Amino acid sequence: MATRKITRRQAVTAASAGALGTFVNWTIPPFTINSRVQEKLAINGGEKVHSGPWPDWPVWDTAAEKNITDMLRSGRWWRGNGEHVADFEKRYAELMGTKRCLATASGTTALITSLKALGVDAGDEVLVSPYTFIASYNVIIINKALPVFVDSDPETFLIDPAKIESRITDRTTAILPVHIYGLPVDMDRVNAVAKKHNLKVVEDACQAWLAQYRGKKAGSLGDAGCFSFQNSKNLPAGEGGAIISNNDALMDRCTSIHNCGRPFGTVTRTAGGYPIAGTNFRMQQIQALILMSQMNRIIKDADIRLANASYLDSRLKEIPGIIPYRLADGAERSAYHLYPFRYITREFNDVPKERFIRALNAEGIPCSSGYGPQNKDGLIEDTLNSKGYKRLFSEARLRQWREENVLPGNDSLCNEAVTFYQSILLGSRSDMEDIVKAITKIYQNRASLKA
Ligand SMILES: Cc1ncc(COP(=O)(O)O)c(C=O)c1O
Repeated sequence: MATRKITRRQAVTAASAGALGTFVNWTIPPFTINSRVQEKLAINGGEKVHSGPWPDWPVWDTAAEKNITDMLRSGRWWRGNGEHVADFEKRYAELMGTKRCLATASGTTALITSLKALGVDAGDEVLVSPYTFIASYNVIIINKALPVFVDSDPETFLIDPAKIESRITDRTTAILPVHIYGLPVDMDRVNAVAKKHNLKVVEDACQAWLAQYRGKKAGSLGDAGCFSFQNSKNLPAGEGGAIISNNDALMDRCTSIHNCGRPFGTVTRTAGGYPIAGTNFRMQQIQALILMSQMNRIIKDADIRLANASYLDSRLKEIPGIIPYRLADGAERSAYHLYPFRYITREFNDVPKERFIRALNAEGIPCSSGYGPQNKDGLIEDTLNSKGYKRLFSEARLRQWREENVLPGNDSLCNEAVTFYQSILLGSRSDMEDIVKAITKIYQNRASLKA
């Protein structure tokens, strides 16, 4: 009898239905018929698929310690009397392919500075992705502007470019697309809308170091791009951030704003004294030294994550009810700060996502739920009801905002998203196989997960 190939999806479905006998002489990928896969789930007292450890994060390089102790002993701890922050800025701009980089205290302060430097002011409106970390829109509120959420495309996990234009009003001054999890937004479409309506674009690339879109780095495609180097990040320093741009006048303005409004570059030439209002968002020398040591591994790590993510892409999509992210048009590579997929409950006999996550954790595979529907967070009403916002925006505008704050794409994404943290992707190929095995095992035994 001829041997026929079947897809993994067919094999998994058939195996789970107890129909393996009908596939005699068919070539079925080994993991789908591996007896281990069909064992009792670990959450029900069975043996876990993965019993070993996962890579730790962050990873310290002791070679950096001499530079750090030299700097500490010198007493030159702030950027004003040391060279390390400027050295880091030069290296990071080179890595990102931009003319300039300004290091900041955090990603949040990088975003606040960029918006302010681009002229976002009290009473303005800024269009923003809703599927993101809270800081992406806190920074709009800190600048006294109104965050206007544009619905997400659940397939890409990103702002849906087709839905941007309808949310523009005569108060809109900027768009803040977020490359969440390191997945690049289709920036050509965002920039086209921005150009048509004369809006500024600040990319929230706080999770997108080395992510690539049409040959360029995420963060280098709008007016300014912002990064975070907080402890969990792929390039960590405890805390830290950066703004990148090719616009000298803008970067001079950012530098001034982040340094108490002190004159800098073109800002110096246009005004005396303190020409603009600023604050202290400076990076410290120690952060820059940690970052430069971490930069020695960033390209190698990114390649390992990409290889493992590509493997997961190809295997997970064969499991019914598991839909990995789709790269947006023009996106060439993600940074994989997290690896996301959507879990379709109905394919798992209506086992709730939280129970699926607990079952996967029990199999020794760390994973978590994605972001919640933050456009409904308490802080939003708190802001809209504040004295200042009632002064800045008419009652009619705030009513309309509430009526339009309905984001079905984002709601379904929040319900379905499951993520693996970036350091999981630094594991071995056999670790990735365990992820596939564990999800397959849960799928095959989904009936035993019913509460
Ligand atoms: C998408 C996004 N934006 C902004 C930030 C803010 O960065 P930071 O924590 O460095 O202030 C983060 C940090 O987690 C982030 O993930």
